[in-house]
Amino acid sequence: MKQFLSVKDAPDVNALIQSALLYKSSPMRDEDLGRGKRMGLLFLNPSLRTRLSTQVAANNLGLEVVVFNVGQEGWALEFADGAVMNGSTVEHVKDAAPVLGQYFDLLGIRTFPGLTDRSADYSEHIIKQFVKYSGVPVVSLESATLHPLQSLTDLLTMTETFKEKRKPKVVLTWAPHVKALPQCVANSFAEWVNAWDQSEFVITHPEGYELDGSFSGDARIEYDQAKALQGADYVYVKNWSSYSQYGKILPESGNWMMNLAKLGKARAMHCLPVRRNVELSDEVLDSRQSLVTAQAANRVWAAQAVLSEILKSMNA
Ligand code: CP
Repeated sequence: MKQFLSVKDAPDVNALIQSALLYKSSPMRDEDLGRGKRMGLLFLNPSLRTRLSTQVAANNLGLEVVVFNVGQEGWALEFADGAVMNGSTVEHVKDAAPVLGQYFDLLGIRTFPGLTDRSADYSEHIIKQFVKYSGVPVVSLESATLHPLQSLTDLLTMTETFKEKRKPKVVLTWAPHVKALPQCVANSFAEWVNAWDQSEFVITHPEGYELDGSFSGDARIEYDQAKALQGADYVYVKNWSSYSQYGKILPESGNWMMNLAKLGKARAMHCLPVRRNVELSDEVLDSRQSLVTAQAANRVWAAQAVLSEILKSMNA
């Protein structure tokens, strides 16, 4: 694996899940794989789980890790080609990224979308410039449209908790939020579940919140949340802003917050951080049906599996 920006970089999703499970049972089994190599984790936006789990995973593989909160501590970066930099930006990514490529053997980048210019966000122009100009392998720690480490974790969590000899029914449901959020987690979850091809997959949301079809693929879209939830084994709850009216919160009718009555016997998933009693009720998050802590814990093993694949290809 040369980079990890989306499911397209994972040649075998199930093999990656099995590798993550192997690291979960034996975290230090490849403790020398990254010895002598250094990884830079660059955060243009905040993080708790991604930052810490990736650091733990990298350490388990013997990598030295340096974390840099670019958004708070670095120079304001410019990403526009040909920009006349007489405004607030101080350093062009064309100049910064090659320097990072000298300091680090691989890079992890977190960068959120602006949610104003859809074509710019969906071109992934920020993370792609780090790929282009750094000259080292880049791992997405969540980009403008995708969050692949989260999605791999989500598949891993379903794989290890589903014990029946049939395909699970997986429902991705939109939930309310006070802020306009990116589509990243929903896009990414959809494309990974589609690539996994091990479930009946339904996406439910109010009209106007349709995801980009290149991510939702052949998933059944159901505007009636109650109908979508019937017989669900896993209910993945997430807010996202509108893709068609880009970055907007639309007026929606009805109560889309997930509660125990709606959840039924299903297990509840969410990537965290979560707005309690807006997206999911306390009773769901505090119940035994909630998988949110298990998901967050599994972030380490997903990251370790991905870093391991990249290190192996660097060492080959
Ligand atoms: N789920 C997730 O990516 O969490 P953080 O934003 O805290 O990293």
